[in-house]
Amino acid sequence: MRPTRRPVIVDCDPGHDDMLAILLAARHFDILGITTVAGNADVDRTTLNALRIVELAGMDVPVARGCATPLVQAPVFGTAIHGESGLDGYDFPAVQRRPHPRGAAEFLVETLRARDGVTVIATGPLTNLAIALRAAPDLAARIDALSIMGGSVTTGNVTAAAEFNVWFDPEAADVVFRSGVPIWMSGLNLTRQAGIDLHDIERIEALGTRAARTVAALLRFYLARQARAGNALAPAHDPCAVAILLEPQIVAWAPMHVAVELRGERTRGMTLCDARHLPEFNPAIRPGTPPRGDAPNARVGLRVDRPAFLRLLEDALAALP
Ligand code: BDR
Ligand code: CA
Repeated sequence: MRPTRRPVIVDCDPGHDDMLAILLAARHFDILGITTVAGNADVDRTTLNALRIVELAGMDVPVARGCATPLVQAPVFGTAIHGESGLDGYDFPAVQRRPHPRGAAEFLVETLRARDGVTVIATGPLTNLAIALRAAPDLAARIDALSIMGGSVTTGNVTAAAEFNVWFDPEAADVVFRSGVPIWMSGLNLTRQAGIDLHDIERIEALGTRAARTVAALLRFYLARQARAGNALAPAHDPCAVAILLEPQIVAWAPMHVAVELRGERTRGMTLCDARHLPEFNPAIRPGTPPRGDAPNARVGLRVDRPAFLRLLEDALAALP
């Protein structure tokens, strides 16, 4: 008998790497819905991109449009990396599907209340989730797990301290990290180890299907933009939040307390990860020393086995039409 697939909702702002996260999740999980949020581009564009990805992959999944702005501050979109559309690099045909009639936060509340054991994979700013958790605090005990791409144990990308998804809406990230939901965090310290290069893209292209060739064209654009930003590889940030749930032997993690910095003059949007108990960050510590300070609220990714991760991605892309 086929084992039941884990039910998930993907909350995202596609985005090239969000696309990879959706496609990897579709290969292994039962996606109940995709909720969109502003981030890499405005929310009309990220919603359109989610619909494009669903159609490209031949998926039958509702897409619910989410928040257009962060909770407090004005939006600053990630178009420098992802292009004006949020998913530049391929000229998509007009989409046939329409977004779901419910908004993202409402969709999250309804779906999470209707079904036990649902995991949320969040690969964009956390605005939708913060609104859903504020409106329905019972969700904190209902969500099976929340796997976030966001933050960093070490350096940021938008600023020296802050990673884009948390920086875009720090107040929302603060609500989520304080919520008590069991969190997995794939931050930049992890996702930068999951870089894609030109050879990887050529292998994807060589899969030969329409979908694989489209993904390869999009990734060529993404790699070129990452090169402009000084990166030799294009980090596949968002699919790490899927991989961490999939194969424990691919991603190593440790428990930490994570707090979101809201007031720092230079550190707003930083995830302050208490890693004092880990030899990886504190070579003087005795291995096995328990965490000190506030109790851990997240399982934080430390290392990813890049070849194994790339095999997972390729396997998901090879399954596309
Ligand atoms: C994150 O920001 C976005 O540009 C990517 O899609 C990813 O979710 C990396 O900082
Ligand atoms: Ca994203």
